[in-house]
Amino acid sequence: MGFKKIADTSELPAGKMKKVTLDGKDVLLVNVDDAFYAIDNKCTHLGGSLVEGTLEGNEVICPRHGSRFDVKTGKAVGKAKVAFIKVMPKDEKTYVVKVEGTDIMLQTDGD
Ligand code: FES
Repeated sequence: MGFKKIADTSELPAGKMKKVTLDGKDVLLVNVDDAFYAIDNKCTHLGGSLVEGTLEGNEVICPRHGSRFDVKTGKAVGKAKVAFIKVMPKDEKTYVVKVEGTDIMLQTDGD
């Protein structure tokens, strides 16, 4: 396991999100109060792109049906709503983030 640089801190001010790619997967990188977190970008409900959603504090809201995920833990904290049906989606996978200087790095599965 190693770490791979995926962004520079200057690209991601506090309160912003960015989609990055790690090992072929789309990952959502988030700056909450100058701490960085990463979860899968693909919503566990029906695959919405979370980077196109809204960030409120440490929760990202999916643009498709409104599921909410805590970007610090990956936990689903708000239900998706389709018509009159509400369902709690699964939690999102989280990634280990390391910052060295201005380099934001994610832990990779490979070398
Ligand atoms: S795809 Fe994200 S809430 Fe439905």
